[in-house]
Amino acid sequence: MNSLILNEIIQSRRSVFLKDYNGTQIEDEVIWQILKNANWAPNHKLTEPWRFKVYTGKGLITLGKLQAETYKTRADQDGTFTEAKYHNLATSPQKASHVIAIIMKRSLEVKIQEIEEISAVACAVQNMYLTATAYGLGAYWGTGGMTYMPEANAALQLGVQDRLMGFFYLGKTDEPLKAGKRGPIEQKVEWIKSQ
Ligand SMILES: Cc1cc2nc3c(=O)[nH]c(=O)nc-3n(C[C@H](O)[C@H](O)[C@H](O)COP(=O)(O)O)c2cc1C
Repeated sequence: MNSLILNEIIQSRRSVFLKDYNGTQIEDEVIWQILKNANWAPNHKLTEPWRFKVYTGKGLITLGKLQAETYKTRADQDGTFTEAKYHNLATSPQKASHVIAIIMKRSLEVKIQEIEEISAVACAVQNMYLTATAYGLGAYWGTGGMTYMPEANAALQLGVQDRLMGFFYLGKTDEPLKAGKRGPIEQKVEWIKSQ
């Protein structure tokens, strides 16, 4: 029975984007449940490298300003600044109920490969995606905005070896989940059953 439920949640999960959020606030208790499930992700040597900053309410304005100003600093240097992009970065977080910055905190004591810490955080994000699906919420992992800007670490007060891995957007939605697109798994698997 449980496996049927899990199969259904995994396969019906879809990324639901800002345009499909209805502006209703998600209860903080539900956000805590999503975060608690993130905390149960597998991780090598129990470094638990995931860290989250949750923006909601006026915090979404704070995040918008932060990423717009971070963009401006960079784009002014490159000569690529556009007012439209600045405006979009400043205002888009407010279309969500909550935006969660996804951070990989690099372990300084335990020596494991960085890819393992990044993988553990990605597992945590999948737990968040699946929990959001189970609660009927819209959610997606976005890696736009200031995700890959070198200035992001300072802006979010991260250590130099930490990494901003993007943002998890959440909102209530009235839209039904769309059909997913995946090629057959059989084309991606090789079984070895003989010597
Ligand atoms: C690491 C990662 C980064 C992503 N970044 C973005 C992004 O920046 N913008 C976006 O629209 N979707 C982003 N997505 C969501 C994908 O677009 C989405 O997962 C894909 O289209 C498959 O759709 P589904 O999640 O509904 O199955 C990202 C997903 C992952 C796993």
